[in-house]
Amino acid sequence: MSVDLDKCFEVVMELARNGGKIIRERIYSKKTISTKSDRVDLVTETDQEVEKMLISNLRAEFPDHKFIGEESTAEGIPCEFTDAPTWIIDPVDGTMNFVHGYPNVCTSIAFTVNKVAEIAIIYNPVLEQMFTARRGQGAKLNGKPIHVSGEKDLQQALLILECGTTHEEEKMKNNFKNQQTLTPIVHGTRSNGSAAINMAMVAMGAADVYFEFGIHAWDYGAGDLLVREAGGVCIDPSGGPLDIMARRMLCAATMELAQEIVPKISQIYPPRD
Ligand code: IPD
Repeated sequence: MSVDLDKCFEVVMELARNGGKIIRERIYSKKTISTKSDRVDLVTETDQEVEKMLISNLRAEFPDHKFIGEESTAEGIPCEFTDAPTWIIDPVDGTMNFVHGYPNVCTSIAFTVNKVAEIAIIYNPVLEQMFTARRGQGAKLNGKPIHVSGEKDLQQALLILECGTTHEEEKMKNNFKNQQTLTPIVHGTRSNGSAAINMAMVAMGAADVYFEFGIHAWDYGAGDLLVREAGGVCIDPSGGPLDIMARRMLCAATMELAQEIVPKISQIYPPRD
């Protein structure tokens, strides 16, 4: 099947902007909130509506393409990653932020062909930050090229850590352990409450390294291509190659920085998607 990547990019950019308009209009209003796997794993009507809008329009334009969507998966549609052209979608990454009116929210979309990421979009419509990447063509913020910081030294690095969307004991203990080990070493730590925005911060050189366990393909699919196209690395937190279905991700400005932090990380292996 031949894929017109320019057309895919053009279509998805317009849809992401349309979805962003809905998110921007509603972020400071009252939402209908439901919980999924945990009392802090949230979904709103906006997550569902934006995902449905994106998938139905992409399907109308590209009937042969497949989809992996956060909310479709939550509704029971199997999460299957194949060689087929596939859109991996998180309609609102940072749902907890969206619920509270904290402006770190984005739509994250990756497009893969033969399991290789070709297009990445991470769009924060509240702060009007449109991060894009095409394989082999670099990474951009609002149309201008962006690059990772180039930092190699963990002591000088700004590290992003997240607690995730579960209070599951093993995961919380592991988060605290990593926080305790790494905070005294690094320059500083941050949490943006959105995996895709965290990765965009590494891509634009505003942060140097970020890892998280328990996230999903829709959280890091787009960020993976964005960070690599910005000159950074995206690997498994054990040091091996990234696996998009493994729910484990580490991205860094340089491989030197990634290799310095990997042996210091306490690892967990969540069930695969
Ligand atoms: C969550 C956010 C959060 C990360 C969680 C994700 P959601 O995504 O990206 O920062 O820590 O692991 O599940 O639920 O807001 O789409």
